[in-house]
Amino acid sequence: MKILILPGDGIGPEIVGQAVRILERFKTEGVPIELEHGLLGGAAYDAHGHPYPEVTRQQAHAADAIVLGCVGGPRYDTLPRALRPEQGLLAIRKDLSLFANLRPALLYPELAAASSLKPEIVAGLDVLIIRELTGDIYFGQPRGRRQNAAGEDEGFDTMHYARSEIERIAHIGFKSAMRRGRRLCSVDKANVLDTSILWREVVTEVGRLYPEVALSHMYVDNAAMQLVRAPKQFDVVVTGNLFGDILSDEASMLAGSIGMLPSASLDARNKGLYEPIHGSAPDIAGQDAANPIATILSLAMMMRYSFDRDDLARRIEAAVRHALARGIRTRDIALPGEGVVGTQAMGDALLSALSA
Ligand code: IPM
Ligand code: MG
Repeated sequence: MKILILPGDGIGPEIVGQAVRILERFKTEGVPIELEHGLLGGAAYDAHGHPYPEVTRQQAHAADAIVLGCVGGPRYDTLPRALRPEQGLLAIRKDLSLFANLRPALLYPELAAASSLKPEIVAGLDVLIIRELTGDIYFGQPRGRRQNAAGEDEGFDTMHYARSEIERIAHIGFKSAMRRGRRLCSVDKANVLDTSILWREVVTEVGRLYPEVALSHMYVDNAAMQLVRAPKQFDVVVTGNLFGDILSDEASMLAGSIGMLPSASLDARNKGLYEPIHGSAPDIAGQDAANPIATILSLAMMMRYSFDRDDLARRIEAAVRHALARGIRTRDIALPGEGVVGTQAMGDALLSALSA
């Protein structure tokens, strides 16, 4: 297991530090893990003048899987767009063809009260959001700034999806649904966008190959509402890059905290980049206050999807449940009045739960 570690910016080094402790533990148990460290985002810009420098590109291509913290920070906000940390993230996703982004939102029963929704609405929540990650308006050309006919400044972007891009993500959606509750909801905006009309047609066609899966379609505005009205109606959701970005942040709140949600970004051969869905939280960086659980649950996804080691994935997930059951809470998942621990102490608790 050649694993590239990219801590990134902000709280990234702290949360990834805890994930590395878990990997080191597995290594001492004989799991064939080889770790390499690299730079992405603002940290890479500082060292090499680019958020996805050539050295990182080579490391990324050589690795079997990548663990990423998060990128971005106010220090970089004034850089030209091409040099901003987020561009490093988008570039590595595109460069490695990581088109399938899996974002599970699972509510641990202990955290039901930490959700911003009533416990009876979220108890038992287990949704998998599958977001297409290398197409859509995120990468569409042309884009830029121009003057319109009236001589006014105008910004513009292009949304498009090719049939093959929709087909491959639809297959991931149906296959994932087959392994779970066999319900797939495809989210689009087919009442307005041509891109979405094609999306809906192609997903429906692919669905004929998966007769056991109940396919439904939903407009994205309704999906945003349904996620907070009755989130348990969803099993697997498949959607495009932009809608998936928004809906997955929304879904994270159902699970108590954005600090709990892991993600996997996979290519066609299950090489993956694993990262928490949250950002770099510059306001709490360096304070030992961040929740490392999303990153550590991302390791579980890595063991499962890239290395076929469900046993290790389950041990990580069990350790998280164990620590939560013992009442160990970082600030983001604590209720008012509950005691809180820091990043490092949460890592300690997870490591000791791992051997328990
Ligand atoms: C995410 C993030 C990124 C995205 C940003 C940082 C570019 O919000 O992974 O969801 O929009 O994809
Ligand atoms: Mg996002």
